[in-house]
Amino acid sequence: MPERQELIEQLKQINYPGFTRDIVSFGIVSDIVIAENNIEILINLKSQDPKIADQIKAEVSDTIRENNPGYTVNVHINIQQPQAQQAGGQQMSFLQNVKYKVAVASGKGGVGKSTVAVNLAVALAKAGMNVGLLDADIYGPSIPLMLGVNEQPYFDGQKLLPIEKYGVKLMSLGFLVDSNDPVIWRGALVTRALQQLMNDVKWDDIDVMLFDMPPGTGDAQLTLSQSVALDGAVIVSTPQDVALADAVKGVQMFRKVNVPILGIVENMSYFICPHCGGRSEIFDHGGVKRECERIGAELLGEIPLDAEIRIGGDKGVPVVEADPNKAQAIAFKEVAATIKEKLLNS
Ligand SMILES: Nc1ncnc2c1ncn2[C@@H]1O[C@H](COP(=O)(O)OP(=O)(O)O)[C@@H](O)[C@H]1O
Ligand SMILES: [Mg+2]
Repeated sequence: MPERQELIEQLKQINYPGFTRDIVSFGIVSDIVIAENNIEILINLKSQDPKIADQIKAEVSDTIRENNPGYTVNVHINIQQPQAQQAGGQQMSFLQNVKYKVAVASGKGGVGKSTVAVNLAVALAKAGMNVGLLDADIYGPSIPLMLGVNEQPYFDGQKLLPIEKYGVKLMSLGFLVDSNDPVIWRGALVTRALQQLMNDVKWDDIDVMLFDMPPGTGDAQLTLSQSVALDGAVIVSTPQDVALADAVKGVQMFRKVNVPILGIVENMSYFICPHCGGRSEIFDHGGVKRECERIGAELLGEIPLDAEIRIGGDKGVPVVEADPNKAQAIAFKEVAATIKEKLLNS
């Protein structure tokens, strides 16, 4: 009779469809039962895509059969409903009117996640999409500043109306809390605030919603992946090893909850001297590309370290809006175009 561990090793040869990660490390193999000459494998899937279920089922039964002649093999696939829809049978699915939901995430803070999120949002709007931007960074909601929004959202008696700037519809946790009153956000509070931003806001006819996430892999990430079916995650990293190691953790977390990784953006990738035009690699440029190859993620683009990008953020006019034809803006627009194409083909 095969050992459970042997079967696990055999299952590790199977990758999740479309990913270079195996199904065991993905965390979807929930049980293995070996009894007499019978092997039962239980797989828990979040994906509603029947093709994925079929492919995994076929590969698992083939692999286990080949490796264990004489045994009958049964593979059971349990498709899990997103948690928000399970709750007591009441339909609580968030953001049903939003076509594509994309998290912009990073392993650590200060890598330019919000900068990338606002520039991508404006670029996607310029590319003809109806864009929502939800600032979910509980530690420092900075999107209103970066988009130069000073007013408070209007409450129409039932819902808050997102504020529109540069063609982007925006809602921020910063509107709900007093910025002089730092809140220790954890657990249930994070969940409630995020759900409020999704549910109590009039998000109508949005093609793509970007979520500017807090750094790391904590409560907010968990809430989001359990409350909405995310269509993808964009990970922002700087080239330094520390940032990159954290970014990889972020990638792994999203993969665990079956959120496709659209790719990684290398921010502050290189520096173009404004005086001589020479290019310097301030950090160890190229690390993100290597890591992308290793973990099977796409490098979505390299954004230079550039004074105009920072000033755009401080002034509330993102560079994609202020100077759409400059190289810095084009770098963001190219990333946006790739994301758009990936979403439309997903
Ligand atoms: N490519 C860049 N070039 C120059 N400054 C940048 C760049 N990206 C971000 N910054 C600056 O770095 C700081 C941190 O960026 P921010 O987007 O707030 O990071 P995060 O959201 O990851 O904490 C901000 O002052 C921002 O203007
Ligand atoms: Mg931020």
